[in-house]
Amino acid sequence: MRSHAQHDSSGRRVRRLVLWVVAGAAALGFWWREHPSPCPYGLRVWLVLPRPVITWRRLIDILSPREGERMLEIGAGTGYYALRVAERLGKSGRLDALDIQQSMLSHLARRAHERGLGNVVTSVCDAHTLPFEDDTFDGVYLSTVLGEIIDQDLALAEMYRVLRPGGRLVDGECLGDPLMVFPENLCQRATAAGFSFVRRVGVPLAYFALFRKETRDADEAQGS
Ligand SMILES: C[S@@+](CC[C@H](N)C(=O)[O-])C[C@H]1O[C@@H](n2cnc3c(N)ncnc32)[C@H](O)[C@@H]1O
Repeated sequence: MRSHAQHDSSGRRVRRLVLWVVAGAAALGFWWREHPSPCPYGLRVWLVLPRPVITWRRLIDILSPREGERMLEIGAGTGYYALRVAERLGKSGRLDALDIQQSMLSHLARRAHERGLGNVVTSVCDAHTLPFEDDTFDGVYLSTVLGEIIDQDLALAEMYRVLRPGGRLVDGECLGDPLMVFPENLCQRATAAGFSFVRRVGVPLAYFALFRKETRDADEAQGS
């Protein structure tokens, strides 16, 4: 039989191990915030874990994709949101799913094919330079991606450019992501890029925020 002393010492060892793991994860998180980079394909298991607040249902709710619309997802990863959005856009709509990593997009394209979704177009590209004409999309969205982008202001300016006047931008952020962008920071950057803030759902540490590119009429009325 194990003595009390043995129990105490193995309890202490477990607590010390847990502390080291937590401290290591926190140090890695801080380092990553200082050196943002794309989430490697090897860590894709994180993208299938349950998401407490920023679920695809909430995204659909706030983005309201409609049949026939053209939408853009930036940093689509393996397609957690893309497949659900594409379903709502229907055959007459189209989802452009972008990512900087081909491995992510090949995974997404495979899943879209398995679901019989023919309206998803994948392209490898960098969010800093979007290969689209001005005023192309009804909606642009991204989730747990903005923090990985080196020049967030440039990327937001590109999103503004490719959205049609009146179009929506939705950004999702969550504390589990070491590169999370906090609500005030996002709001400041998005409004500097020209967007108007509409609303936020969730909680400050896990949320979707909706912005709008004003119509030209509204811009002109403000300027006059
Ligand atoms: C944490 S994952 C999130 C994937 C997906 N949005 C999701 O929630 O499942 C971030 C994704 O953004 C992509 N990414 C990072 N920087 C990017 C950039 N500059 N341009 C385009 N995609 C980028 C990464 O390759 C990765 O697939």
